[in-house]
Amino acid sequence: MSTIVSGMRPTGKLHLGHYFGVIDNWLKLQSQHQCYFFAADWHSLTTEYADPGIVRASVKSILIDWLAAGIDPKKAVIFVQSHVPEHAELHLLLSMITPISWLERVPSFKDLQQELSHKELSTYGFLGYPLLQTADVALYKATHVPVGQDQVAHIELSREVVRRFNFLYKKEVLAEPQPMLTRASKILGSDGRKMSKSYDNSIYLSDSAADTEKKIKGYFTDPARKLRKDPGNPDICPIYHFHQQVSPKNVQSQVAADCRSAAIGCVDCKKLMLSHLNPVIEPLRERRSGLEKNVKMVDDIINEGAVKARTVAQKTLQEVKDVMGFSV
Ligand code: TRP
Ligand code: SF4
Repeated sequence: MSTIVSGMRPTGKLHLGHYFGVIDNWLKLQSQHQCYFFAADWHSLTTEYADPGIVRASVKSILIDWLAAGIDPKKAVIFVQSHVPEHAELHLLLSMITPISWLERVPSFKDLQQELSHKELSTYGFLGYPLLQTADVALYKATHVPVGQDQVAHIELSREVVRRFNFLYKKEVLAEPQPMLTRASKILGSDGRKMSKSYDNSIYLSDSAADTEKKIKGYFTDPARKLRKDPGNPDICPIYHFHQQVSPKNVQSQVAADCRSAAIGCVDCKKLMLSHLNPVIEPLRERRSGLEKNVKMVDDIINEGAVKARTVAQKTLQEVKDVMGFSV
């Protein structure tokens, strides 16, 4: 059994791109491994520090989304990063041994600074983002971290820092995590771009069935199908990607063939897709509205999660302090 740690930054509501890509993978992992799933609110602060309200507001809502999706507190430890101050303490200790050049070299540092050039991101905290992530996983001696391709460099850094730590203090205290590559979600937004809150093209888990239907009706499809009789290419169509997630295999191949021969029109193709998407999402919507009415239960779950996480985190931190000569 592996130990798996994964965090998600609370910067808004969860959309279907998160669900088909991250959450569906977590659902599989939680029944097979020791899993720790947490809301990385301090990580959100590295970009949202000027307006932290959005972080506060999103923490509860993503946790509700996880629980509604079936992330199960009996199987996985579910918590909020800032409820476990050991993450900050280990981050501080690791910062003492981490050369700045290692952090500057991580590609996402410069890439994101450029992409988010309207924000002042030449901060200490933003540079340290992957080191805080290292503390997140090292505290639980994670063996595997499920990440997309864009985060592999972060895990590489974590491995280097862990090696340096164990070398300096002459004891294998921390474990080197392995990246567990998850395939990138093919789910696209209504305009055919990556589904993202900032593009205003997303379908949220919290959207009603009617809103979801309305959004799907307005969805981008293969632009080659100007007329009903024009044949299309399902491979470039976001609706077909949804089919691939939710429709039975025989429906998928039928749709692909009928799109190519123009035997089906986009309107009917979307209706057919919705008839398979809805049964997947409807139970989530129901559980979601139940949880929203029972915030006390959500609070209990994350408080319990913090207690469980801290028990493990404190033990690791104590070992770290021991080898660094900081035990009382
Ligand atoms: N960096 C991750 C992301 O952007 C979030 C994250 C923070 C994380 N700490 C982590 C992921 C630890 C895996 C393990 O989505
Ligand atoms: Fe997309 Fe379906 Fe239209 Fe083909 S028929 S372009 S798969 S919506």
